[in-house]
Amino acid sequence: MNEIVKERGVETSYDPLNPEVTSRPYPHYAELRAKAPVQWVESMQGFVISKWDDVQAILTNGKIFSSAQFWPELLGEYDPVPEVQPMISLDPPHHMKTRKLANKAFVPSRVGALNDKIYDTANQLIDDIIERHGNEGNIDFVWEFSALFPVSVVAEVIGVDLARRVEFKHWVDDLLSAGNRASYGPERLAEIEKSSKSIREYFEQVYEARLAEPKDDLISGFIAAEVKGERLSKSEVLNLAILLLIGGVETTTNLLGITFAHLKNHPEAYAAIREDHAKIPMMLEEMLRFDGPVQMLFRHTTEDTEVRGVSIPENTLVMLLLGSANHDEDAFEDSESFIYDRAPSEIMSFGQGPHFCLGSYLSRMEAKAALETLLTRFSELMPTEENVTWSDSYFARGPKTLPVKFKVR
Ligand code: HEM
Repeated sequence: MNEIVKERGVETSYDPLNPEVTSRPYPHYAELRAKAPVQWVESMQGFVISKWDDVQAILTNGKIFSSAQFWPELLGEYDPVPEVQPMISLDPPHHMKTRKLANKAFVPSRVGALNDKIYDTANQLIDDIIERHGNEGNIDFVWEFSALFPVSVVAEVIGVDLARRVEFKHWVDDLLSAGNRASYGPERLAEIEKSSKSIREYFEQVYEARLAEPKDDLISGFIAAEVKGERLSKSEVLNLAILLLIGGVETTTNLLGITFAHLKNHPEAYAAIREDHAKIPMMLEEMLRFDGPVQMLFRHTTEDTEVRGVSIPENTLVMLLLGSANHDEDAFEDSESFIYDRAPSEIMSFGQGPHFCLGSYLSRMEAKAALETLLTRFSELMPTEENVTWSDSYFARGPKTLPVKFKVR
């Protein structure tokens, strides 16, 4: 492997394990695209891919670029259901069985039926803020709103206990942070292990309860569903429910945090959506492109291959930089600028190919409802600090906290 690198002889500053890089990744991505679009990263023992075309080609070629090691790589020994792989870690054709089933539950007509509940959830959280803090003041937007809103919606969709949403959020945070496990001490690892066990125990209880007495929710639906005469096993149902919780919580939470963090620096965009809520979806598309909640996806090569003339041996980690693809100057004009009304097409933020995000429709709907409700109820909602503290994950991007000043209309 090192020979390949020596042969190319290019040095770049990108290292996903360096918190300075992950908090401000875009200049490093630009350097990669310009100097080494297919680059070996020693700390990760894998190649990073930074151009839109290459990311797209790899995501649509599951035969050579497999997802099978995605989940094991991310969660390691902290996978709550290690005996079966969730669909995000299955390659075609096996992936199709579960995906078809999940698709049925996520068609726009079914997700659209949640619309009123989603607005109610946003209004309820705002009522809670006003009850706790009065009609104006300072709050942490992340922990008072954006972290609670998607977990409440997803709990509703899956059919789990809303009262435990703060616990769910902590479990999901802990599981996702298992990606950085190599850098943690025993105390933090013990917390992650506890969350992994709790999430499994909780979903086992829900499974047994729904088996005995089905309800009108996704878990009951998964238990009852048949695809080509086959049912999902108990572990497959647990896995799917946990995947939906993980997939649906952190991402949309981060999208909302990212949006308010950047709107502070784009008063023209903020004023435009305040004045005309119909512009919110267009602004959100550009936000997803400009600074998306998922920065990187993992694949592993199933055979020796080549990308942009660089040889990549079999069974090598390949990291796809979605955030960089979204800033590729060959794919988007003036790609480093946030232009709220540009209406970008072909953003890479939800992936591409067979694993394209199952929740893209739901998350866009949630973010639109949250913004509309927040702008209707608050005449002021503005970050108070100059600099944002970003999460140190190289995988999920979002503010750790976001102090804001608010005022009720
Ligand atoms: C802004 C919000 C979101 C972003 C940026 C996002 C991003 C992504 C990306 C990039 C993938 C592709 C993974 C891959 O190719 O390996 C993905 C897959 C997935 N997402 Fe999302 N996601 C979001 C919201 C949601 C929500 C709300 C849910 C569910 C409630 C969800 C559930 C899933 C699932 C189940 C998959 C796996 C699909 C499969 O393997 O076929 N996501 N998401």
